[in-house]
Amino acid sequence: MAVAIQQSIYLILLSLVIHYYIGNTSDYNIYIRVLLLVTFKVVHRKVKFSYLAMSLFQDAFSEDTGLSIRCASKNRVSDKLSKIINALGWRQRFSNKIQCELPFLNNTLIIKQIPNGEEVVGTGAHVWPAAIILAKYLEKQIDNESLPLLIKNKRCLDLGSGTGIIGICAALLEAEISVCSDVKSVFNLMTENCDSARLIYNQSLSNLKCNIYEWDDENNNNNNDDDDLLDQFDVVFVSDCILPQLYPLEPLIKTTKKFMKDDGIAIFAYEARVYPYFNVMQRFKEICNTLELEMFNHVPLTDCHNIYVSDEVQIFYLRKKN
Ligand SMILES: C[S@@+](CC[C@H](N)C(=O)[O-])C[C@H]1O[C@@H](n2cnc3c(N)ncnc32)[C@H](O)[C@@H]1O
Repeated sequence: MAVAIQQSIYLILLSLVIHYYIGNTSDYNIYIRVLLLVTFKVVHRKVKFSYLAMSLFQDAFSEDTGLSIRCASKNRVSDKLSKIINALGWRQRFSNKIQCELPFLNNTLIIKQIPNGEEVVGTGAHVWPAAIILAKYLEKQIDNESLPLLIKNKRCLDLGSGTGIIGICAALLEAEISVCSDVKSVFNLMTENCDSARLIYNQSLSNLKCNIYEWDDENNNNNNDDDDLLDQFDVVFVSDCILPQLYPLEPLIKTTKKFMKDDGIAIFAYEARVYPYFNVMQRFKEICNTLELEMFNHVPLTDCHNIYVSDEVQIFYLRKKN
């Protein structure tokens, strides 16, 4: 016990040093991590201290060093703990902060957010975990020779884009055109983020567009002067928009279909949440069936990025039935 206490004190000092280096935010989760570390070191005394520390503070290291929670798993830290720790590493780190920072294509993509902005501009005020997981999955596909190139030279549309993150990533992954679309209230945020991506990556990104589009607006209130949405798309992205508690499913799925080319696909990132009135996925599949759409390619978690992954977020594809 005395050794554990000694190590814990050492770690608190270490955490303060780490906080000094990565602490440009008032990020209290670092202290929660220290607390977790101390607790688990005391409870799981056989787990190597260094593995736990590396796992808990993995985001202070380069993600490419492979210092992930996998190190700790070898030492029998439970899966549950692994998930809690991984989530603390990236998931809550930027919630309610003015910006979200994501390593992407050898740079750091900075996405502006509106803290407490949901009541002002809606749920698109910040980046959702599903989008982070999808972005890193898409980035990973560059090295996946067994899959055809998903985005390069393809026409891409990000529906319910919010901050614009997925549309921006698709543009950086060399889509022929990548259109971010959402309701009017988030349009300014989305455009600001597109402009800032141009500066960060020092590219004109002339393939990146922003548009106001309300799902399946049968009243035809979508007054778009430009032609970005006139043609259909090879890939339609839908990140964290399956939220029947807030938005009905049918308009979203109809709009997805409307914008898919006959041989196009839609890629959904879906975060499962408790919904008391019906089984969300079952209902989703029923609507897809009615609209002659089929789900395929449920992406296994092992195909996602090794850190930016969660078993609460599924990625799956949709295509039109022949
Ligand atoms: C949970 S957020 C997800 C934002 C972003 N895709 C992400 O994953 O970070 C849901 C998004 O759907 C958009 N949305 C909701 N209803 C919509 C509608 N009828 N038409 C277009 N977008 C809508 C919201 O404005 C919001 O940006």
